[in-house]
Amino acid sequence: MVVLLLCSGLANSLQSRAATFDVRNNCGFTVWAAAIPGGGLQLDPGQTWSFNVNASTARGRIWARTGCNFNEAGRGTCETGDCDGVIQCTAYGQPPNTLADYALNQYNNLDFFGISLVDGFNVPMEFSATSNDCTRGSDAPLISTHFSCPGGTDYKVVFCPSKAIAQMHIQNNCSFTVWAAAKPGGGRQLNKGETWTLNVKYQGRIWGRTNCDFDENGRGKCDGGDCDGLLQCQTGPRAPCTLAEYSIGQNNVDNLDISLVDGFNVPIGISPTNTSSKSKNCRPIKCAADVNEPCPMELRDPGGCNNPCTVFRNDQFCCRSNICEPTNYSKFFKHLCPDAYSYPLDDATTVISCLTGTSGYNIMFCP
Ligand SMILES: *[C@@H]1O[C@H](CO)[C@@H](O)[C@H](O)[C@H]1NC(C)=O
Ligand SMILES: *[C@@H]1O[C@H](CO)[C@@H](O)[C@H](O)[C@H]1NC(C)=O
Ligand SMILES: *[C@@H]1O[C@H](CO)[C@@H](O)[C@H](O)[C@H]1NC(C)=O
Ligand SMILES: *[C@@H]1O[C@H](CO)[C@@H](O)[C@H](O)[C@H]1NC(C)=O
Repeated sequence: MVVLLLCSGLANSLQSRAATFDVRNNCGFTVWAAAIPGGGLQLDPGQTWSFNVNASTARGRIWARTGCNFNEAGRGTCETGDCDGVIQCTAYGQPPNTLADYALNQYNNLDFFGISLVDGFNVPMEFSATSNDCTRGSDAPLISTHFSCPGGTDYKVVFCPSKAIAQMHIQNNCSFTVWAAAKPGGGRQLNKGETWTLNVKYQGRIWGRTNCDFDENGRGKCDGGDCDGLLQCQTGPRAPCTLAEYSIGQNNVDNLDISLVDGFNVPIGISPTNTSSKSKNCRPIKCAADVNEPCPMELRDPGGCNNPCTVFRNDQFCCRSNICEPTNYSKFFKHLCPDAYSYPLDDATTVISCLTGTSGYNIMFCP
């Protein structure tokens, strides 16, 4: 009887307690934090959002949205992580987005939490405990996380946790000129054999543009990968475009991938420069096939082989609503380039992961 009373008393005190989450934006750019449960908030660089969640929340997640535009009513869209176009999320975000996942007061009254890449990644994140002397989380390698802390622990999530940088060696091995582009980073013309070295941090994208024509002010246009007609890109590319995506220093790990989600224009390879880096999955990947030649007629574009979402704009191909599965088009891309993302929820095992600070990366056009 005494034991029973004690147990139910303990359970009541745990249920009435809330866990506090502090979400901080350490990035050099604005992010729109999102949480289920919790809602969402715009966080300018350096700002923090604190909120409480019910200590018996069995499933929760926190993520970042980027490139958002909301009106006064809190409606709009985000480039990544969008949750049905509202600032206060009540639904999960649109991939790709890095996730902080947690489950409170589960088995043995333990909290379980970790960073997940199942939906791809957008912003580097750290997820760690701030109370109960629970020191798990902060420096853990990304892929193998599943940490636990006693129920009732408080947590913090930091977007862009480190100042880690990496060097990208962008090389043009194509027989033709490619106008390399990076967001952030700008762009430059690379004739056959030329290289451009770029220091990057946090997260971004690198791609190649073809058949460009720029005037002396750096204005003009390209058939593939054009960014608002500027040599020095400020925005992302117009589809179709093969993308090299990176996230540097996320829980001390760099993650990189090749994506055909926006279609294909030039072959791309990514390889770590430190061949003795022993971390798991730190290996070269490439999409070397010429996808343009066998491209289905309906996806052909002057700039390359387009993605079916841009061409048909339907929910199935764009992975809107709850439907996000391989299609005959994504299978076409996957067959030619098994190392690359072929649709937003494609297998995340194609992501390469190296320990931050141990390697730079070669991004090669036409590997
Ligand atoms: C927390 O969730 C439990 C189970 O869903 C519920 O019974 C309880 O009322 C909630 N507590 C608060 C403070 O919302
Ligand atoms: C290469 O990686 C290994 C293992 O991660 C590391 O010990 C070494 O310092 C790295 N080399 C360089 C030049 O960073
Ligand atoms: C893909 O399926 C659509 C119908 O869903 C069909 O019209 C199209 O021809 C197919 N394309 C390929 C490349 O198989
Ligand atoms: C550069 O391209 C040629 C084909 O034009 C290819 O044989 C070679 O392997 C490429 N170099 C690298 C380092 O991938």
